[in-house]
Amino acid sequence: MKIFVDTAKIEEIKKVRDWGILDGVTTNPSLLSQTGKPWKEAALEILKEIPNKPVSLEVIATDFEGMVKEAKELAKMGDNVVIKIPFTYEGIKAVKALKAENIKTNVTLVFSSLQALIAAKSGADYVSPFIGRIDDIGYDGIGILEEIIHIYSLYNFETEIIAASIRHIDHVKQCALLGVDIATIPFKVIEQMFKHPLTDIGLKRFLEDAKKADITII
Ligand code: E4P
Repeated sequence: MKIFVDTAKIEEIKKVRDWGILDGVTTNPSLLSQTGKPWKEAALEILKEIPNKPVSLEVIATDFEGMVKEAKELAKMGDNVVIKIPFTYEGIKAVKALKAENIKTNVTLVFSSLQALIAAKSGADYVSPFIGRIDDIGYDGIGILEEIIHIYSLYNFETEIIAASIRHIDHVKQCALLGVDIATIPFKVIEQMFKHPLTDIGLKRFLEDAKKADITII
């Protein structure tokens, strides 16, 4: 399972990159607004910091022509740009047009397996079902993700599934058990994935015993 970090904060991206487990980044207008920097500056900083990993940047226009125009502008910002396109009639049309121009797309705001089916048919490179927001309205986000994985496997679609809107470590575990291609995870949740009290207790004991045994290696 590839790990993307769902943030626009450069410090968080650098940390996950330096841990050696970063496969890509997803942003959206809300995440960019949280950086405290002009959006373009924040986006360029990310693109330059991880030049070989995909970085999703979202269009703001909602009409076909506007989305295509904005996507072309965003694509100029770096070879690793992936254009996030909202799941709408116009968005799906734009995905097809951008594919013809070799511009990569990530269909966002996907909440059902039928929407995901359409995204794959349009030739999107990525599709982002929003697990947490599905849970928020009383439905089963992981269940819908499972449906999407199953449907895609039946037809060998090439679109990669990004499990998005992940809220906690159990979401990540369920994604991994289902074999999803990618999970885009908030930085705080990635930090939590490292943690286990028995690791801390075990390390403390080993260090105490190392002292007792007078172990010095260098
Ligand atoms: C994904 O690409 C989105 O940026 C993100 O996962 C949305 O998550 P949220 O529901 O926590 O805002």
